[in-house]
Amino acid sequence: MKTRGAVCWETGPKAHWEVSELELDPPGDHELLIRWVAAGLCHSDEHVITGDLPCRLPLIGGHEGAGIVEEVGPSVTKVKPGDHVVCSFLPVCGTCRWCSTGRSNLCDLGATLLEGSLPGGAFKFHARGGDIGAMCMLGSFAERSVISEYSAVKVDDDLPLDKAVLVGCGVPTGWGSAVYKAKVGPGDTVVIYGTGGIGINAVQGARHAGAANIVAVDPLANKREKAEELGATHSAASGAEAGELVTRLTNGVGADSSIVTVGTVDATVVEQAFDIIRKGGSVTITGLGPIAEKTIQLSGTMLTLFEKTVQGTIFGSSNPMYDITKMLDLYRIGQVKLDELCTNTYSLDEINQGYQDLRDGKNIRGVVLHAS
Ligand SMILES: NC(=O)c1ccc[n+]([C@@H]2O[C@H](COP(=O)([O-])OP(=O)(O)OC[C@H]3O[C@@H](n4cnc5c(N)ncnc54)[C@H](O)[C@@H]3O)[C@@H](O)[C@H]2O)c1
Ligand SMILES: [Zn+2]
Ligand SMILES: [Zn+2]
Repeated sequence: MKTRGAVCWETGPKAHWEVSELELDPPGDHELLIRWVAAGLCHSDEHVITGDLPCRLPLIGGHEGAGIVEEVGPSVTKVKPGDHVVCSFLPVCGTCRWCSTGRSNLCDLGATLLEGSLPGGAFKFHARGGDIGAMCMLGSFAERSVISEYSAVKVDDDLPLDKAVLVGCGVPTGWGSAVYKAKVGPGDTVVIYGTGGIGINAVQGARHAGAANIVAVDPLANKREKAEELGATHSAASGAEAGELVTRLTNGVGADSSIVTVGTVDATVVEQAFDIIRKGGSVTITGLGPIAEKTIQLSGTMLTLFEKTVQGTIFGSSNPMYDITKMLDLYRIGQVKLDELCTNTYSLDEINQGYQDLRDGKNIRGVVLHAS
């Protein structure tokens, strides 16, 4: 069938999303056809455009996606036509070493994530005489995609998909960075660097976990205000300001943990996050940067003598099949906010405006609403 989608054909300073005509193959074994309703504009797709993430091109963007199943291929048991789904940007097979030990965010099916082919290697999209990949095997910047059933999470029909879409990446990634990876606990002091679409949810997770001091660090006033609205107890416009604040709040002891969720991670912010924690504390790095850049440059001796931990996390170390629905359950009872996170909506043809607004710092999360 024919569809349309925003494709990254080339990377670099002048690169942008090009809404292109696409040919889409029907769903095969364990695959389904989805009509996307909404797609979140995460900074990770921006890393594709800049070339920070070395994806195979061309690639249809979009890994935060919610939609409705239109058709299923042979052997699909998980969903049926008409079901509402939020997709996981990490496929989950349920049986590999990682899935079967409670770490399904590391599922082996994710091996071709940067290729953009489905598990098994198939490219379902074609245009201009070649195969087109789909970001994280999803490609929610297309009107329709064929995806693996291992990426789909069925959700209740009454949930608004234009809000539920955020639990495909931003919400569990941020929430889990605080709750699962940093293991924020009651009474803790936690510092979150960068409170955009991911960091704001680290704030929500830290609040949920009972932290006493949640310090949101962001140079932008609108981000600091939103962070305070959603649970930050303090905010700072710079790393230096945060350092002084935390020294005061903890009588010189330091924060229990810090979480790095800035748009593009560099060695400076990682060093700030390292210096601000106490003995035995942890730095959790969730944000990404140019893949070849050495963004961790720290004194190993300080790490050793103070027993500090520096760790990374993908999807906030959440388990997609469990945590995507759990975030929605928490949304229903008001303990996870989603409506407050959607700053602006765009049509598919306005997607480059959406990314310009992300670069300009206007959005907590921008969302593309596909025409039905
Ligand atoms: N590990 C994962 O699984 C995962 C998943 C999704 C996104 N990410 C990554 O997380 C990062 C954040 O994504 P996002 O969608 O929230 O981006 P975003 O652009 O919405 O937010 C980034 C925020 O960081 C702030 N910022 C920039 N430099 C800063 C600094 N030095 N100190 C403090 N704040 C600073 C910006 O003002 C902005 O508010 C990106 O690198 C993205 O690729 C990782
Ligand atoms: Zn994302
Ligand atoms: Zn697996």
